[in-house]
Amino acid sequence: MADSHLHDHGRNCDHEALTPGSSSAFTKETEEEEVEGVALTSSDEIETEAVNHTLSGTESIAESVVGCVIENGRRYHSWGDEKVYLPNDDQEQDRLDLRHHYCLLSLGGLHMAPLSTAQGTGPERVLDCGTGTGIWATDMAEAFPNTEVMGVDITPIQPTWVPPNVTFELDDLTLDWTFPENHFDYIYSRDMALQIAYWEDYCAQMFRCTTPNGQIELLELSFDVTCDDGSYHPDTALYTYMTVFRNAVAKAELVLPTKEGLVQAVRGAGFVHVQVKTTKIPWGPWPSDPTQKQLGAVWAAVLESGLEAYALRLLTTTLGFTAAEVRDLCVRALEEIRSGKVRVWGVQWEVVGRKPKARGRRTGGRGGGKGKGCGNGKGKAKGKGKAKGKGREREMESDDDDDDDDDDDDGDEAEEEEGEELVAELVADVEVR
Ligand SMILES: C[S@@+](CC[C@H](N)C(=O)[O-])C[C@H]1O[C@@H](n2cnc3c(N)ncnc32)[C@H](O)[C@@H]1O
Repeated sequence: MADSHLHDHGRNCDHEALTPGSSSAFTKETEEEEVEGVALTSSDEIETEAVNHTLSGTESIAESVVGCVIENGRRYHSWGDEKVYLPNDDQEQDRLDLRHHYCLLSLGGLHMAPLSTAQGTGPERVLDCGTGTGIWATDMAEAFPNTEVMGVDITPIQPTWVPPNVTFELDDLTLDWTFPENHFDYIYSRDMALQIAYWEDYCAQMFRCTTPNGQIELLELSFDVTCDDGSYHPDTALYTYMTVFRNAVAKAELVLPTKEGLVQAVRGAGFVHVQVKTTKIPWGPWPSDPTQKQLGAVWAAVLESGLEAYALRLLTTTLGFTAAEVRDLCVRALEEIRSGKVRVWGVQWEVVGRKPKARGRRTGGRGGGKGKGCGNGKGKAKGKGKAKGKGREREMESDDDDDDDDDDDDGDEAEEEEGEELVAELVADVEVR
């Protein structure tokens, strides 16, 4: 895993910049006490316990998002009445870091978007939406030491020992973003399924905050699997898991991303030269090809914690499962995956779009940048550390050969039309048999 030593400091739910002068009692010590206490409770019932956090009148919006609950032995970010379905505890943070490792292995680097490395500069400002443990943001900062990288998340699980060109900010990306217009050269968002309901709004906010000619990249997983040899059928635990998961998603009125939906959201926001790359993910070490076998083994390790992470709160709160039932289903499905009894593959999509260079701004969604909201500059933390690492070289056929000094008086319309025609899907050549 890339430089995991940098992330050892992020294993808590506090944040050094959150508490100055505030009455938040959510310190590491508090957390340990609470977690230990909760670990003794029955995991068959929902046991919810609020971790101390008192909102004072002087706290910023960023501070107000700090709070956690323990439920069935897992810790979740607490956010008013809204349900956050993924946990934010150590186990989940390890899963996020392993997922990052998987991305590096399977995609070959940190980004698909062609980022200029002319004169060794790279992008000036990069935003990582829903940064999680900040591992991608940190690696990007190491790969581009002259770039300012900002990671935003609603939950404070970011490390403090990071390269000097990384900052983390706590905020809610579903609120109006208050970052300045035309601010980031590159905006990245990975695995925000179940977290983002309105992808059109999300992309519209990105559009407003991207510089002309800047780019965005969404990386999302499909929550579907395909089987080519009949080993996946209704009698398998994995089939049951996938079915009840989808039922629960529907009941909770959540939205799972689709490739078409993501492309539509990116284009609809005004981005052009939209490109998609679909890569297969073998679920388990069953492929004969050694590279795919290794990927499948790493993915099985991601699923080891991931099946429970995605299902536990969702199934217990929407379909009436007990935690024990969810865990039993996950264990049985994992056994099928690990043993190769069930041989399926899923996909991940990378969607890249570019903001038109000239007069390139469409407003839309809720991206007005007003009032309280994401990007208000509160709750910032900046760490220090050393910098090293590599970004992925441009590897896609890009339709965009525009040089920075091109005359660009053709306007948005022409660029949009060009973009419409240039949507490309590259399905990676994966041996899945
Ligand atoms: C599955 S994790 C992905 C983390 C990271 N992008 C990665 O790939 O490692 C989703 C992240 O989104 C964050 N998140 C969820 N809702 C959010 C919101 N409304 N605003 C900001 N971050 C949010 C969660 O706290 C979590 O860290």
